[in-house]
Amino acid sequence: MERGLTLEIARVTEAAALAAARWLGRGDKIAADDAAVTAMRAVFDSIDVDGTVVIGEGEMDEAPMLYIGEKVGTGKGLKVDIAVDPLEGTNIVAKGLTGAIAVVAVAETGCLLHAPDMYMDKIAVGPKAAGSINLDAPVKENLKSVSSALGKSVSDLTVVILDRPRHNKIIQEVREAGARIKLISDGDVAPAVATAFDHSGVDIMMGIGGAPEGVLAAAALKCMGGEMQGRLVPETEEEIVRAQKMGLKDVHQLLTMNDLVKCEDVIFAASGITDSSLLKGVLFNATGAITHTVVMRGKTGTIRFIEAIHRFDKKPQWKKMCTD
Ligand code: FBP
Repeated sequence: MERGLTLEIARVTEAAALAAARWLGRGDKIAADDAAVTAMRAVFDSIDVDGTVVIGEGEMDEAPMLYIGEKVGTGKGLKVDIAVDPLEGTNIVAKGLTGAIAVVAVAETGCLLHAPDMYMDKIAVGPKAAGSINLDAPVKENLKSVSSALGKSVSDLTVVILDRPRHNKIIQEVREAGARIKLISDGDVAPAVATAFDHSGVDIMMGIGGAPEGVLAAAALKCMGGEMQGRLVPETEEEIVRAQKMGLKDVHQLLTMNDLVKCEDVIFAASGITDSSLLKGVLFNATGAITHTVVMRGKTGTIRFIEAIHRFDKKPQWKKMCTD
């Protein structure tokens, strides 16, 4: 994929973040999501790619836009698969909490696991700890091997876990091992990606969250040489059938990095909507807004943090996107 596409994809997540951020704390997660989807869709239309959404807002009959199978882009450029989550953390924005991002991954056709909307058990680490995790090993063992890979003691590790009753056991195990825990209300993509950055203060993300979110985070970790392992957790017969249709003969198989994201040539971008361990959120000011985006390209391994100043007086269409 061409280098120029990275900046275009950053524009896509910036637009979604700007639109969703207007809904901060307004108690309406559907409206916040709709705003992010509409803005993301509009910017995609200006990009010269022949994209197909493989992870999106749902099946065609469930979502008006960015549904699985939808074509995005002008149709003129390279054929690519696209995974989107215009608003990752709908409740976060509705309640005005931390950790919401707008996120996109783009890859060669067939590269990304077409993860259905169901749960996935996951463990993620940054590049320094790649090769030291095993989803099937006890929590204590994972903490021990990650701590030696990172050269710090287990008591200095910070593990991010979604605050859910289903995680009581792993929370207890992490506590017994003596590591630190950050419990989050929602949004496990940002902390999974943040494991790759020393300044984030996040060393490991573990626990059960969304499978599509797992593939998105894995795309970023692939670009940076980090690691994620996952396993689908289907809850109904219907979900098992859906996973099988996706090509997984054994729906309970351990999904390695190469199962989640097959190729190296991936572009990942995320923009902060609210502050997180990965990125600052949108700041509105007198002339417009400031966004913070991370965009990376697996082919070259370049990671860019972009602080963008948006002038709504010069770009009235952006102002409209953020107020409609
Ligand atoms: P939404 O943006 O769709 O609300 O999802 C947020 C999220 O917290 C994900 O980050 C996470 O993977 C999943 O939901 C967890 O699901 P649940 O809330 O059912 O535990």
